[in-house]
Amino acid sequence: MEPMNRIPVHVSMIMDGNGRWAKERGKERIYGHFEGVESVRACVEAAVETGVKYLSIYAFSEENWNRPQAEVDGLMELMVKAMASEMEKLNSNGVRFMVIGNRERLAPSLNQVIDSCMDMTSSNDTLTLIVFLSYSGKWDILQAAKKLARKAAASEADLEEVMSMDINGFDPFLATAGIPDPDLIVRTSGESRLSNYLLWQGAYSELLFVDTLWPDFRKEEFKSALSEYAKRDRRYGKVK
Ligand code: FPP
Repeated sequence: MEPMNRIPVHVSMIMDGNGRWAKERGKERIYGHFEGVESVRACVEAAVETGVKYLSIYAFSEENWNRPQAEVDGLMELMVKAMASEMEKLNSNGVRFMVIGNRERLAPSLNQVIDSCMDMTSSNDTLTLIVFLSYSGKWDILQAAKKLARKAAASEADLEEVMSMDINGFDPFLATAGIPDPDLIVRTSGESRLSNYLLWQGAYSELLFVDTLWPDFRKEEFKSALSEYAKRDRRYGKVK
């Protein structure tokens, strides 16, 4: 297939290396996170330019709650500010904004901003930007299993339905219901692991690990990642 026909539908980013980027410059870690928001903006623009329909970012994992309180507070403040300041522009560019994760752990003020951004952009369809916030793959699978357990307990007919479910039947119970699985997951900063991200949804994703630290990952790097994806041969376990 020609590379131009191989634009992934869903590209997902494990944004890593903000702290190291700041440290290299003798700055506080939060400075790296601030600069990381610029990379998010660049990737959104590149995704729109290249025709990617879903861009998702792993902004804060369930495990990240264990970071020093000052860094957690700084990151949460940064998210509120970034959402508030970027939303008009995202909206006017046709970007639908979503947050997925364990939102019960987020401050009410952050949840309010998220709800208003999601409402404002809900009918846009140029690009869907998904921020995974307070998210982990194991959390997602567990919450889906709990929903299923509740359904199975509702009636004999529901139990039968659950017991006869196939693999695809599980998808609607995940927090990502309705969103196509990521075609490409990129992790920056030279680390080669998934860190509890999209464990179910990433079963057949192409994985790309690059050395670039997240604050240096801009449009050119995004487009290079798409070129790398275009070379991959996706077989989904079959023989071609
Ligand atoms: C990983 O770097 C980065 C994070 C945990 C946070 C990234 C979050 C943002 C850039 C905010 C984006 C939010 C919106 C809503 C646009 P690290 O701190 O793990 O870096 P290190 O591995 O070098 O320590």
